Amino acid sequence: MFIVISTKKCYYECNMKILPSVLASDWSKLRKEIELTQSLGISHLHFDVMDGSFVPVLTFGPKFVADIRKHTKQFIDVHLMVDHPGTYIDDFAKAGADMCTFHIEAEKYSFRTLQAIRNLGMKAGIALNPQTPVSAVEAILDIVDLVLVMSVDPGFGGQSFIPQTEEKLRSLDQKRKEKNLGFLLSVDGGINDENIRLLSERGVDWAVMGTSFFSQEDKKSYLNKLKKRLA
Ligand code: DX5
Ligand code: ZN
Repeated sequence: MFIVISTKKCYYECNMKILPSVLASDWSKLRKEIELTQSLGISHLHFDVMDGSFVPVLTFGPKFVADIRKHTKQFIDVHLMVDHPGTYIDDFAKAGADMCTFHIEAEKYSFRTLQAIRNLGMKAGIALNPQTPVSAVEAILDIVDLVLVMSVDPGFGGQSFIPQTEEKLRSLDQKRKEKNLGFLLSVDGGINDENIRLLSERGVDWAVMGTSFFSQEDKKSYLNKLKKRLA
């Protein structure tokens, strides 16, 4: 006799994390904003590093991360939207980052860079832009800790979620199940209380949230709303 146990419900109820993207916070009161996320029980924060070349915008570098590291034990997830990411990872490791994720479009030698990130004691992730097919990361799926699927063209907060992302998430989730791989699935861009449920159903482990989170007057209520959507 077979006993069919569905793990799906528990899967998204228990495991999906919301990662506030500090890019969208008010940097003039950043320390307070981060303390607030801690008090709300948020364990992971997302940092968007942009170099003005891979994407047309400049944001911040390792010093910014190092200064924040002094005030929190939260997991620091660094998203490198930069050309030649390998040249920056040493500095982010020294700054106290827990994970570095770089773009497959920006790195010819992804095996070497992933290994270098690991050797520095960080988790290693790979990101792909909306126009980049899943096949571009196929060869490294068994050695990455995380695949970050961009659901907007990178560079700016506040853009709308690109619906084609859904199929990409479905495909990656299916591949990890088929091959029994352990990478986490992250999605970044245009995420809010309207689409969070769908993303959890597509197997997303980490949802990066910038504008929709930091624009809330009452972030506690918003988190509760998100939790209800995921229940
Ligand atoms: C976009 C960044 C995102 C961004 C998400 O280039 O990688 O992390 O902060 O922001 P929202 O949630 O506003 O789309
Ligand atoms: Zn990001």
